[in-house]
Amino acid sequence: MPSETTIKSSSTPPNRLALRGDLLDFSAQPAWGVLDSPAVRFQPDHWLLIADGRIQGSQAAEPDESWHKVDHSGRLIMPGFVDTHVHCPQLDVIASYGTELLDWLNTYTFPAECRYADPAVAQAGAERFLDALLAHGTTAAVVFSTVHKVSAEALFAAAAERGMRLITGKVLMDRHAPAALLDDVASAERDCIDLIDRWHGQGPRGRLAYAVTPRFAPTSSAAQLAMAGALCRADASLYMQTHVAENRAEVRWVSDLFPQARSYLDVYDQLGLLHPRAVLAHGIWLDDEDRQALLRRGAQLAFCPSSNLFLGSGLFDWAAAAGTGVPVSVASDVGGGTSLSMQRNLLDAYKVQALAGQRLSAWAALHAATRGAAEGLGLTHELGHFGTNTLADVCVWDWACGPVAQARDAVAQNLHERVFAWMCLSDERNLVSSYVAGKISYHRKT
Ligand code: GUN
Ligand code: ZN
Repeated sequence: MPSETTIKSSSTPPNRLALRGDLLDFSAQPAWGVLDSPAVRFQPDHWLLIADGRIQGSQAAEPDESWHKVDHSGRLIMPGFVDTHVHCPQLDVIASYGTELLDWLNTYTFPAECRYADPAVAQAGAERFLDALLAHGTTAAVVFSTVHKVSAEALFAAAAERGMRLITGKVLMDRHAPAALLDDVASAERDCIDLIDRWHGQGPRGRLAYAVTPRFAPTSSAAQLAMAGALCRADASLYMQTHVAENRAEVRWVSDLFPQARSYLDVYDQLGLLHPRAVLAHGIWLDDEDRQALLRRGAQLAFCPSSNLFLGSGLFDWAAAAGTGVPVSVASDVGGGTSLSMQRNLLDAYKVQALAGQRLSAWAALHAATRGAAEGLGLTHELGHFGTNTLADVCVWDWACGPVAQARDAVAQNLHERVFAWMCLSDERNLVSSYVAGKISYHRKT
């Protein structure tokens, strides 16, 4: 079993932390299908040096006594995962039976989101949600709240307390939902402007950012989507998040609602919602023209494999997106998705690709969930890898938990084989510790 020894020195400044273990991160995007990629940085039994919450470097030699040392030798240390599409209030409806998207929204999701009008529910929900992310090895996220301003505020406040990189915003929806979940163009604009003034670029180390958040085309009028586009045009530092082309009935509904648009994606494009800080979830039912539009605008897709499978939405064509040059990240989309664990979602992504006759390497998958996601969000200066001066959002994992995974780990013949088996067989139970900007934010009890 790996040893864990914490060596404390009374004279150690608390801001100098050294973590020992097998360090794995990426210097660039590994090419598809290449298993011995030069973009993989694996440093077995090294020390990761962290000062003032920032990564200073790594070394094989044990650092001196000026460092607070935590020995995780025999464990895997990676950058924290980035979940680029997940819904805070939907933890309450994860694993709900028997529906596709539109029925699932009406039957389970909208009723759960109604409860977030209550500030106490919103605050408790935000704290529980962020702690759950940290307990799954996800240290940064792009998050849907609800239509209620208070739900976005609760998330920003809870993320600020934890020092996390969080991108969120109040959901915009002014039609086709229960009355308790509807806003209108004027009040939504006021709420957005107020939230942007108070939270965008704020929080410890400026780690909070606002995302203009139209839920999806069916629940916003053209006037509301135009307002959202105008907000984006007024401040290019704002993010935008929404859903696109997830489910076939949804796609048909959008073509009825917006007959003048060439496609679902074109609705957003015409109204100014596609830009380099736009994150569009799903994108299963896109065509080549849509992918070219995404490329032209610099927008990215969040592939949500467990959600796409669970809600029977369809099989995302990652290779087509990658072939066009559209950035793709991987996201849990809980509660449509069935786990906050990025490994579980990456495993589902592997299976979806396998059905299309393609092979997703552990490198391509883990890069997409770390450095690749950071790149898509314009955040590589801050997170997603172990580069000097990035903030130390770092997770420590057991290579194997339980006899099956341990036996598999023991016979791995090379690094890719070992990491791929880890990706397939591990989940949040393998997580030992999460650090956010060098501060411990989760530690397994046993
Ligand atoms: N489309 C519109 N809203 C949602 C949602 O909450 N989850 C998913 N998966 N798709 C959506
Ligand atoms: Zn979603």
